[in-house]
Amino acid sequence: MSLTADWYRSFAVRQARGKSRSYERLAHFVAQETRLLHLLDELPEPKRQPNLLFGATRYLGGPTRSTAEFHDWLLWHWDEVSEVMLARRTQTNEPGRCAALLPLLASLPQPLALLEVGASAGLCLYPDRYRYRYNGRTIGDPRSAVLLECATDGGVPIPERPPTVVWRAGLDLNPLDIADDDVLRWLNALIWPEHEHRRARLKAAARIARADPPHLVKGDLLTDLAGLAAQAPADATLVVFHSAVLTYIRDESQREAFAETVASLPGHWISNEDVKVFPRHAVPVAQPDDGPEPGVVALDGRAVALSGPHGETLRWL
Ligand SMILES: C[S@@+](CC[C@H](N)C(=O)[O-])C[C@H]1O[C@@H](n2cnc3c(N)ncnc32)[C@H](O)[C@@H]1O
Repeated sequence: MSLTADWYRSFAVRQARGKSRSYERLAHFVAQETRLLHLLDELPEPKRQPNLLFGATRYLGGPTRSTAEFHDWLLWHWDEVSEVMLARRTQTNEPGRCAALLPLLASLPQPLALLEVGASAGLCLYPDRYRYRYNGRTIGDPRSAVLLECATDGGVPIPERPPTVVWRAGLDLNPLDIADDDVLRWLNALIWPEHEHRRARLKAAARIARADPPHLVKGDLLTDLAGLAAQAPADATLVVFHSAVLTYIRDESQREAFAETVASLPGHWISNEDVKVFPRHAVPVAQPDDGPEPGVVALDGRAVALSGPHGETLRWL
């Protein structure tokens, strides 16, 4: 069994199951298709990932619902697909994740200076511009076109109002310009087929960001964080945050070095990442044997909640 086959099988079970029937089916299919696995194995290892293959297919208008159509289309269009996979990254930007961050953001001394590492196009930098519905309780600007629904459990401290943000900046290896229609097309292609509601909110969040573009800086979170943090206003609470980013840092010692850098900065650190990213954030609850794993939301290195992958659920610990 090849490592790539394992990767696709694990993606089917750990990420797609219960979230996208078509991607679960496709990933299982790829995992047992020798010809497709050979093609993928010709790409550099980080470029073989399921989300990148499926996103590139959708970006080019290929089919992802039927395995037979996907197979034939992919073999026919492999040159174009591999070109997109080599040129692009999985930079899914999910404003819904703000719903998992909001209770912590609102609990800190206001106003806030937000610094997101791994910001993609910066759509998580506008938690103050979105509206939220936690178990039927709505907060935030009633005029906002972005409504984030989040089912909570365990006594989530739902704030009265969103935080006050006076400065926002993002750091990314490859910052995306949300004003660029092709960027929006790529972000749209990265949204899984069944997730129509996420497509609508990407469009609405992009409109908000386009009206007041974020300050995004090209750089590596391992080396360039302190420099950007130094630009934050001193009279606001600096919050360094990230979600679905540190899985890209494969080396545990590098993740720990990043954690030390954040800890050396003034202000607070909010992390919303897969439990494997920081084993020391492991939480005293049963993890599922299969099916999607929750993310761990931590404040200053202490786990406080479990989150759904796109901010759709939040369980306080
Ligand atoms: C899956 S996206 C998540 C974007 C955003 N945080 C969200 O939750 O919607 C991960 C982002 O992390 C960025 N990234 C990965 N490694 C990085 C690094 N070493 N330094 C800065 N950004 C990085 C990628 O370029 C990508 O835009």
